[in-house]
Amino acid sequence: MGFYERHVGPRLVSCVCGAADIRIEREKVVPAAKGIVLEVGIGSGLNLPLYDPARVSRVIGVDPHAPFLKLGRSRREAAHVPVEIRQEAAEAMQLPSRSVDTVVVTFTLCSVQDAARCLSEIHRVLRPEGRLLFLEHGLSGDAAVARWQNRLNPLWRPLAVGCNLNRPVLGSLRAAGFTIEEVEEYYLPRTPRPFAHLSRGKARTG
Ligand SMILES: C[S@@+](CC[C@H](N)C(=O)[O-])C[C@H]1O[C@@H](n2cnc3c(N)ncnc32)[C@H](O)[C@@H]1O
Repeated sequence: MGFYERHVGPRLVSCVCGAADIRIEREKVVPAAKGIVLEVGIGSGLNLPLYDPARVSRVIGVDPHAPFLKLGRSRREAAHVPVEIRQEAAEAMQLPSRSVDTVVVTFTLCSVQDAARCLSEIHRVLRPEGRLLFLEHGLSGDAAVARWQNRLNPLWRPLAVGCNLNRPVLGSLRAAGFTIEEVEEYYLPRTPRPFAHLSRGKARTG
């Protein structure tokens, strides 16, 4: 891993992901988590202040990248819920099957190496009555925006430490066996559209 990936990229990404407009979107998702929560790609812990301690017994944060985890130390210390970090890739988690009540995934499916394997692992560890809460950016249904996403992706990816602009979010969830119960697709305001297409919702395994 080079200097940029270790020191600059993660700070930049964390700063962008911590913007006020994005926090508003997080607030629509994270407080619904309950029980034992798995947060995939917890990164610098931007969701931690939003967990409701009356509903959440523990957050297990999975993320393989030390530079992102390092940035989250103070948020973990300040969290109102117990937080356990597992430095591992979501494509091969050590967690037992059907062991978590909620999975939270925000701005992560864009960055994992293999989204299909990651979602299949999430499907495995989630209890049948559990829910996957998602807030992801990805491929737009608008052909003109999608064209720009495909054009910009090779330039964007190294800058944003492996984040892709053009991954299909809902298609990947369905292909992994999830049933989408609630979803909203829209553009984040005040952001150029290739970077702004969001999918926010709730899914179950069956
Ligand atoms: C754009 S950041 C988002 C961080 C956080 N989810 C948020 O909402 O602010 C993407 C995160 O995905 C993590 N990530 C990348 N590959 C991963 C993998 N294979 N498994 C789990 N997390 C991964 C990165 O380390 C980084 O923390």
